[in-house]
Amino acid sequence: MAHTPIIDLPPEWQTTIDEFIGMRFRFQSAMREVRTKLEILDDEFSMRHSRNPIHHMESRIKSPYSILEKLKRKGFPCTPQSAMENLQDIAGIRVVCAYLNDTYAIAELLARQDDLRIIRMRDYIKEPKSNGYRSLHVIVEVPVFLSTGKELLPVEVQIRTIAMDFWASLEHQLRYKETASVPETLNQQLYGAAERIAALDGEMQHIHDQMLSWVKQTEAHT
Ligand code: GTP
Ligand code: MG
Repeated sequence: MAHTPIIDLPPEWQTTIDEFIGMRFRFQSAMREVRTKLEILDDEFSMRHSRNPIHHMESRIKSPYSILEKLKRKGFPCTPQSAMENLQDIAGIRVVCAYLNDTYAIAELLARQDDLRIIRMRDYIKEPKSNGYRSLHVIVEVPVFLSTGKELLPVEVQIRTIAMDFWASLEHQLRYKETASVPETLNQQLYGAAERIAALDGEMQHIHDQMLSWVKQTEAHT
């Protein structure tokens, strides 16, 4: 790749850095493709139903440090090539929806796109993790067209409600504290909160459904 070296690096360092930069670019492009698809689905839904199923989206590319840490943890060689072969979450998009049914609607609409291939779909809403974690995880493979040809790249899409997202960010903060193991009472409180959040998501969906049919009825009478 044509980068002007600022300092003299050993050639193998230069190669590894260039490979990481190239990989980042390819996954960023793949992520943009999937993000655009999600934005279009959200806009179309809004045009048809006058509301947006997606509350907001976040996206990220795994840092080289996290990539190497995960490869090491899983016993894979720590090289950019090994990352391309073994990791499916280098590019990640989090789709946050207000309502429970919208999470499934988005997953379904994504699955229907015939230029995307679903590599893996995990429903941690129907089957939550033992700590209470809930989300839909979809890994899609998307074609990216570059001057060198077509590349098929995986993108991890996590779909969840606002309430599930609130929970997951707190739990994540706790889980990634490297100091000591998390006290059991905190784990139990989090588990309890996850259960109440699931009930609340169900209740909000129910109220929303009733609200929509009430609006429809009143519109029919005016
Ligand atoms: P990883 O090696 O962590 O990627 O696991 P995996 O390949 O088995 O995938 P999994 O579906 O379990 O999780 C993928 C991603 O979902 C993680 O990197 C997190 O971003 C998120 N995630 C999964 N489990 C939890 C959890 O218990 N708490 C939180 N906060 N996030 C989670
Ligand atoms: Mg991951």
